[in-house]
Amino acid sequence: MKITSAEFIMSNQDVKKCPNSGIPEYAFIGRSNVGKSSLINMLTNHKSLAKTSGRPGKTQLINHFLINKSWHLVDLPGYGYARVSKTSKAKFQKFITKYFEQRKQLISGFVLVDVRHDPQPIDVEFMEWLGESGIPFSIVFTKADKLKPKALERNVEAYKKFMTDGMWEEMPPYFITSSSDKTGREELLTYIEDINES
Ligand code: GTP
Ligand code: MG
Repeated sequence: MKITSAEFIMSNQDVKKCPNSGIPEYAFIGRSNVGKSSLINMLTNHKSLAKTSGRPGKTQLINHFLINKSWHLVDLPGYGYARVSKTSKAKFQKFITKYFEQRKQLISGFVLVDVRHDPQPIDVEFMEWLGESGIPFSIVFTKADKLKPKALERNVEAYKKFMTDGMWEEMPPYFITSSSDKTGREELLTYIEDINES
């Protein structure tokens, strides 16, 4: 899919105040610093449409971006970041789960996981919660540029094995990406395009 336009629409913490048009949306979620905001910039070919940072906890609100005037990408705060104070962390968790429970426009979530790491309990628990809540999601492996091809393949295979040995009969759809070298860009955009057109 060709990206012809990408605009920031709004940021907020209240799901009820998110855009109430019925246009389809796709939301990026995952641990702080995993690369959610960077992936939005990579997909849209923008350097800083979504704000990124080397320090975890950068994105703190629900951010809507309108793509090609026809669908939304949503950048969410990360979960599982200990340095955020307990009260604000609890609030994040609540408005994040509310977002997933209440957004009727949400077509699919993308759970980002750093391809260098073993499956992390917080990601697995979040995916289980999505599954139990009947919310469709895919897995996006990030930072593929940080591994050599063999190690990359080994880690993805290990992740698949972990998922299918656990609560999932099948591995959810997944993508291997790098925001640095644009690996996975076409695959992800084609996936979204196919859903939008079906
Ligand atoms: P929060 O908003 O804090 O939850 O983080 P985030 O998930 O939005 O992460 P962000 O996109 O801000 O990226 C975090 C750090 O990882 C930044 O220093 C990015 O430059 C780096 N990063 C993100 N994606 C990649 C990638 O694909 N490859 C490499 N090498 N670095 C990446
Ligand atoms: Mg972010």
